Amino acid sequence: MAVTMNALKLNGRPPSLLYHRPRLIIVRAFSALLSPPSKAVVYDQQGPPDAVTRVVELPPVEMKENDVCVRMLAAPINPSDINRIEGVYPVRPPVPAVGGYEGVGEVYSLGSAVKDLSLGDWVIPSPPSSGTWQTYVVKEQSVWHKVNKDSPVEYAATVTVNPLSALRMLEDFTTLNSGDSIVQNGATSIVGQCIIQLAKYRGIHSINIIRDRAGSDEAKEMLKQLGADEVFTEGQLEVKNVKGLLTNVPEPALGFNCVGGNFATLILKFLRQGGTMVTYGGMSKKPVTVSASSFIFKDLSLRGFWLQKWLTSDKAKECRHMIDYLLRLAKEGKLKYEMELVPFDNFHVALDKALGKLGSHPKQVLTF
Ligand SMILES: NC(=O)c1ccc[n+]([C@@H]2O[C@H](COP(=O)([O-])OP(=O)(O)OC[C@H]3O[C@@H](n4cnc5c(N)ncnc54)[C@H](OP(=O)(O)O)[C@@H]3O)[C@@H](O)[C@H]2O)c1
Repeated sequence: MAVTMNALKLNGRPPSLLYHRPRLIIVRAFSALLSPPSKAVVYDQQGPPDAVTRVVELPPVEMKENDVCVRMLAAPINPSDINRIEGVYPVRPPVPAVGGYEGVGEVYSLGSAVKDLSLGDWVIPSPPSSGTWQTYVVKEQSVWHKVNKDSPVEYAATVTVNPLSALRMLEDFTTLNSGDSIVQNGATSIVGQCIIQLAKYRGIHSINIIRDRAGSDEAKEMLKQLGADEVFTEGQLEVKNVKGLLTNVPEPALGFNCVGGNFATLILKFLRQGGTMVTYGGMSKKPVTVSASSFIFKDLSLRGFWLQKWLTSDKAKECRHMIDYLLRLAKEGKLKYEMELVPFDNFHVALDKALGKLGSHPKQVLTF
């Protein structure tokens, strides 16, 4: 049975693509359980994602007894996926690789030793792991976390990387009590939208900074609907005393920096004496600069957050509880964020939107 050789000839892909999936090229017996061929976004080298990614059909994978084959339903394009492909992320899969890091799918077939999952179950890789931008994913059973099938599919696909980061960052740096406030930039990001809502449930006010762009008035309104107390564009904060703009919101002790550059400086201006700024993203690709006076007169602290590091510190079980909690909130309509669902066949249009080449767009979520 020459499935893989035929597939290789049919697809005309370089043989090197197969080398990182060694199980693909050995078809031992007719009784072996094989996954279906998988349509996948692959990259053979690091570089600009729109230049190095292509959609190919990968041949079937021979499944081991503990493997689960999942038919993907939805997976987002996150900034960290782009960073992995560009090669700027410190931890990335060896190339050639399939893109994507989180997503949701339904169980399509099971290895003979799999006990806790059934055909049709909805599962997410938890902790998340590489290779979700493809129609069929085969991974060992312990990778998969079963989620309720009544979860909205786009939230199940996106719950881990961004909402979980928002939840952790509200917990891990400063004790926040009802009535306190936080300040953040990049408030229109999924992380930002989740911070607003998760803070609000605890009675914590949010001061939000967004960029000046077409549609910023609508973006402000959207964030206020989610529970934001204050929303400013960068341009509105070109004043001597930014705190003078606050009405009925106390000075924040904690700030979240998604963007860098001047957006980070604005957070420092809002923070109260002894406050902390946590940097978790670098969307502007500009460095964080801090005045000497921020340290000398305000004694501010600068910290960083990286979900991937947190997940490797023996947190897998805790992570799954938090995911279930966040999905319950999403199902109840208490956690919302903007997404655009895009058929997988339009991957490269979705990628261009995620790269910002077509202006500002909501989170792109591929549907399979
Ligand atoms: N450290 C961690 O563990 C961790 C975990 C999760 C996410 N992150 C990081 O968090 C950030 C947000 O991720 P996300 O998935 O929530 O974002 P997202 O939903 O994809 O939204 C992108 C955000 O970036 C803003 N943006 C894009 N280009 C920009 C630029 N040149 N200057 C200023 N703002 C710009 C967008 O603003 P507009 O609305 O104006 O377009 C939007 O707010 C990313 O940097 C991501 O890597 C880090």
